[in-house]
Amino acid sequence: MSVLEAVAGRRSIRAFLDKPVPRSLLEQALAAAQFSPSGYNFQPWEAVVLSGAPMRDLSAKMLAAPPQEPAEYQLVPKGIGDRYKARRDETVGHRMDAIGVARDDLAGREAFARNNFRFYGAPAVLLTFIPRVMGPPQWSDVGMWLQSVMLALHGLGLGSCALESLYVHGRLIKDFAGIPDESHVFFCGMAIGWPDPAAPINAFPRTRAPLDEVVRFAGFD
Ligand SMILES: Cc1cc2nc3c(=O)[nH]c(=O)nc-3n(C[C@H](O)[C@H](O)[C@H](O)COP(=O)(O)O)c2cc1C
Repeated sequence: MSVLEAVAGRRSIRAFLDKPVPRSLLEQALAAAQFSPSGYNFQPWEAVVLSGAPMRDLSAKMLAAPPQEPAEYQLVPKGIGDRYKARRDETVGHRMDAIGVARDDLAGREAFARNNFRFYGAPAVLLTFIPRVMGPPQWSDVGMWLQSVMLALHGLGLGSCALESLYVHGRLIKDFAGIPDESHVFFCGMAIGWPDPAAPINAFPRTRAPLDEVVRFAGFD
């Protein structure tokens, strides 16, 4: 697989085969992702990886808990405007179509969203934390690292789905993982496993803005 193929071919996987992921493969992907770039080489990402009983235990605790107050961080900024709302509605609509739930069926939508807290049935989950002292540039570094992890997993034939929706239980997750709330923010989880090739939720169309909507070139003529 070329780098271009890997970048354009990765997609979020939300249904997994009932097959464990060897720790050695996860270590391979994470070791490669250590070479992600970061400003001043801070490498501000920290993670805990769970499988088996601890993973099931965390899932049960989250499913039983109310969302935390105050929120871990502001997930969706206020006043995002129509452009971003349209992109969100489109992808959520595609997801609902794939699982056969009507787009206006809010209860069906919420029931599916609960699967975030089951890590979409994945056999492993990675939990990502950022030291509180870090700001937007370092959050961007963590984003690059997450993409490196996802691409490395993709290269190994594994699927993944980043899970920021877990942020509603950030403190519960930190408590579970032994990460101090005073010093760290929980950013997101990542479901990891072998993609189920037969699941429509892994196959709906992925859309992106055309390049000229987001990039301008100058001086090439
Ligand atoms: C930081 C981050 C957090 C995300 N959180 C969730 C999530 O909580 N649940 C979910 O189903 N998808 C989540 N996603 C997946 C996005 O919905 C997905 O990347 C986007 O719709 C583009 O689709 P693609 O990854 O298949 O190309 C997340 C993605 C990123 C990068």
